[in-house]
Amino acid sequence: MNTTSLRAILAALAFTLLPGAAHSADLLSQQCVACHAIAKPEKASLERILERKGPDLYYAGAKFNQEWLVAWLQNPTTIRPGGAMFLHAVKAGADRAVDTIDAAKVAPHPKLSAADAKAAAELLMALKPDGLVTPGAHKGEPGGSMASMLFSKLRGCTSCHAAKPGDAPLSGPELYSAGARLQPDFMLAYMKDPQRFDPHTWMPTLGLTDADMQKLTSYMSTLKNQEKK
Ligand code: HEC
Ligand code: HEC
Repeated sequence: MNTTSLRAILAALAFTLLPGAAHSADLLSQQCVACHAIAKPEKASLERILERKGPDLYYAGAKFNQEWLVAWLQNPTTIRPGGAMFLHAVKAGADRAVDTIDAAKVAPHPKLSAADAKAAAELLMALKPDGLVTPGAHKGEPGGSMASMLFSKLRGCTSCHAAKPGDAPLSGPELYSAGARLQPDFMLAYMKDPQRFDPHTWMPTLGLTDADMQKLTSYMSTLKNQEKK
């Protein structure tokens, strides 16, 4: 067992060993900050992105669906096949053409009790910094027949994002559960300008038209596959 998974197990144990009442309000600030930024980092840097142990949660209230949070925190599944930073977990394929993930380098996420998951989700939903995500920006119109083509073929999203369970891309979070996990206005804002969320994130600004972004968001909102391989 490597030290990362040992640490994760210890972290998970800490949750179950904590005396019940004392910690609900302190949950995020005492447990989750070990791996997640719950306030906007004071200094953005490439080092921070490379070294962070989990994705940023400081805009969680503008990003996630609360119901998904409550369920996932009790029963976390993989969203990023390589964990917080896939580069640390990737091993080059034998023919050097296909990268694969060294699963031993990806620690399981700490699991919360139902009560803690509910409390954590409530605290996370309160994290909504002004100006990052515009409420109502996604018009909610159907994506039309071109939307899945845009996603899979024309705009290259599937070179980094899995569109169904078991797909190969490793560098971006899976998007086949995006409709359950993410708020449409967040998807739109993130696609439009990922660097606004962090100047060093490696999701590129793709220069999409507004019409394409509306369609892509509608399409992703329909993807609610929670099934895992
Ligand atoms: C040992 C480090 C660690 C700790 C402690 C930890 N997390 Fe995480 N968390 C991660 C990693 C790594 C991921 C990415 C998992 C993935 O994408 O498959 C993650 C993902 C998440 C996500 C999904 C984020 C997204 O963008 O999809 C949420 C929500 C979350 N964590 C909440 C919490 C909460 C709440 C706590 C405290 C109770 C917590 N985490 C404690 C490492 C940690
Ligand atoms: C070069 C690889 C790459 C391409 C191409 C790409 N993405 Fe991403 N995308 C990423 C990475 C990496 C992240 C996560 C960044 C982070 O957490 O800092 C991301 C994050 C996202 C998110 C936020 C999801 C989340 O859970 O945080 C959405 C939505 C998204 N991408 C949509 C798209 C769409 C739609 C396309 C095609 C139009 C696309 N992406 C193309 C790499 C890519």
